[in-house]
Amino acid sequence: MHETLEKRRPRRAKRKAHQKALHRLIENDMILTATSDEYRNKVKRVYGGPKGAMLATCSMLSLHIPLGERLFKTRKFDLHGMQSILDVGSGAGQLASHLLKYSDPGAKVTCTDLSNQMLRRARNRLKSSRPDFVAADLSHLPFADESFDGVTCGYVLEHLPDPRPGLAEMARVLARGGRMLLLTTEDSFSGAWTSRLWYCRTFNRQELMRICEELGLIWKQELWFTKMHKVMRAGGICVEIEKA
Ligand SMILES: C[S@@+](CC[C@H](N)C(=O)[O-])C[C@H]1O[C@@H](n2cnc3c(N)ncnc32)[C@H](O)[C@@H]1O
Repeated sequence: MHETLEKRRPRRAKRKAHQKALHRLIENDMILTATSDEYRNKVKRVYGGPKGAMLATCSMLSLHIPLGERLFKTRKFDLHGMQSILDVGSGAGQLASHLLKYSDPGAKVTCTDLSNQMLRRARNRLKSSRPDFVAADLSHLPFADESFDGVTCGYVLEHLPDPRPGLAEMARVLARGGRMLLLTTEDSFSGAWTSRLWYCRTFNRQELMRICEELGLIWKQELWFTKMHKVMRAGGICVEIEKA
């Protein structure tokens, strides 16, 4: 038995190395090779253009919208008691629509995005006068320290070559004890394809957790949309974080 395990270990390590090489081959590396201005403009163009116009449909087809809704509906990420919630990188308002539906009626919701075009799309899709819409870069949020008790950030962090400035900004605007729902692309097979499609990077789960902890953002619980998500690592990293 012991011998069999010993034999299996190098085989597993070899398979992992092959997988990593394949992922690197599929992944788009523009985020690492372009200047930050070039990359930022590319992201604005991609989301401002036809692909961005298809974003809500893509999120519906990939089940991100219905499965995301379950997280709020079942209170796996509990919005109850939050007075002020910031949605970073709102896109077409996929997460913001759940915030409007499941947060306390008096809670203030603020949607931000780098792309004005995406903010317009979110406004049209949400059809609500409740949220504020603010154009902002995740790395420079125009809000006072500790001004939100909840932050959601769905598939945005992967548009930063280094996640630290974005995470530090979200930590800064989050009140002590406040909670964040972070969804981001993982270094898996499906993550590699996401990277190719949306010019983003992917994250290693352990490494991202360590970076968060360095910034006082503690991983409270890892969340999974479905069993399949957990086994196949298909929906990326989904985690509830608390500011220490
Ligand atoms: C994949 S969409 C995510 C939409 C939505 N949050 C969701 O959960 O589906 C990514 C959004 O992040 C925005 N974005 C990309 N880089 C950003 C940055 N540095 N600061 C703020 N928003 C950014 C894009 O414009 C786009 O609307």
